[in-house]
Amino acid sequence: MPNSSILEISRRHLMVGAASVSVAASSGVARAYGESRTAAEDRLKSEVRLTVNGSHHDLALDNRVTLLDALREHLHLTGTKKGCDHGQCGACTVMVNGRRINSCLSLAVMHDGDEVTTIEGLGQPGDLHPMQAAFSKHDGFQCGYCTPGQICSSVAVLEEIKANIPSHVTADLGVAAKLTEDEIRERMSGNICRCGAYSNILDAIMDVAEARA
Ligand code: FES
Ligand code: FES
Repeated sequence: MPNSSILEISRRHLMVGAASVSVAASSGVARAYGESRTAAEDRLKSEVRLTVNGSHHDLALDNRVTLLDALREHLHLTGTKKGCDHGQCGACTVMVNGRRINSCLSLAVMHDGDEVTTIEGLGQPGDLHPMQAAFSKHDGFQCGYCTPGQICSSVAVLEEIKANIPSHVTADLGVAAKLTEDEIRERMSGNICRCGAYSNILDAIMDVAEARA
């Protein structure tokens, strides 16, 4: 079993090391172009216009900033969570132009002009989105860390299914009639829950789908 204090020191050293590499990189760029570090850092920035939850934001962002970090660190919308930061857990799921993405895998500069919906934009206490209310009703969470991503994904999943089922079928049978629990599980498989609240999450999604049918 590794000693936790050794791990702590290693982690701190790693962070300091990473920050040093970043500073060194911009210093190196500055030297290469014969300019100040501030000028070099400015050169690495882009103007990005995002519409987030209906509000327009003009940002000057380092080209390496992910959409997730733009939301959390620059717009202070911390509802969207950083789990793995590697596209493996789904905690960072948001909707961009109506489609769900892992915001940790996408650079903010790629979304100039895009419309982003985060968990804050779906609903607020006292005015919850039906999916938020269903998660609450069915206890679709324990620690809650994965929950914003789960809910954004769930909302998008029902839209994906609606878009993929011919309208005469949805009209005749309703979305819920075409849904199987297996399909929901498969479509939600990119959202990991360490607390294992999967069966309650499934109940919440089916509840919303049935209410819409
Ligand atoms: S934080 Fe983006 S997928 Fe895990
Ligand atoms: S509720 Fe804890 S990770 Fe999903």
